[in-house]
Amino acid sequence: MRLLAISGSLRRGSYNAALLDAVARSCARTADVLVWRGLATIPAYDEDLPATPAPVAELRQEIERADAVLIATPEYNGSIPGALKNALDWASRPFPDNCLRGKPVAVIGASTGMFGARWAQAELRKVLKTIGASVLPDELPVASAQDAFTAEGRLREPRLATALCSVIAELLQQIERDAA
Ligand code: FNR
Repeated sequence: MRLLAISGSLRRGSYNAALLDAVARSCARTADVLVWRGLATIPAYDEDLPATPAPVAELRQEIERADAVLIATPEYNGSIPGALKNALDWASRPFPDNCLRGKPVAVIGASTGMFGARWAQAELRKVLKTIGASVLPDELPVASAQDAFTAEGRLREPRLATALCSVIAELLQQIERDAA
């Protein structure tokens, strides 16, 4: 499985980026994980632009080439970060055959708070469903993210590490279901 992994955070030292690195470490046998690092290069959505900006074209191409997409989102004021929403708005156009339509997508998230970006994950699933992606119902809330990782970059709590691999396994099954 070619898995495109997108972090919704631009921050150096992001816990959501760390979560995707944990996926690459822990699930390397089941997924070929490509972490997309272009979020900061995506301009604000503007229908008046005369041509598709190159970073947007690259993002759409990476999504098209992927069998599935995994998004790790922080929670900003009870929702998803604007930069992530903006990138998804670009990906959603042209709407009828947008690159996310029917694409298996899973959402995970980390926050330094007690709830592990649960609201942001729910909002993100709603946005992705509106776009037409094949969104998994699963969530992976990593709370108190500052304490959640080992020095080797793995999830410290076995329950969470198992849940993370289950999300990836579920994505694989979703690809098979959608292809059947
Ligand atoms: C936050 N944070 C936050 N956390 C949370 O659990 N619920 C929230 O609503 C918010 N709101 C919020 C708004 C803004 C503007 C910032 C910058 C931060 C804290 C957030 O979870 C924390 O900064 C994470 O570490 C962000 O994720 P990354 O950058 O580590 O991936």
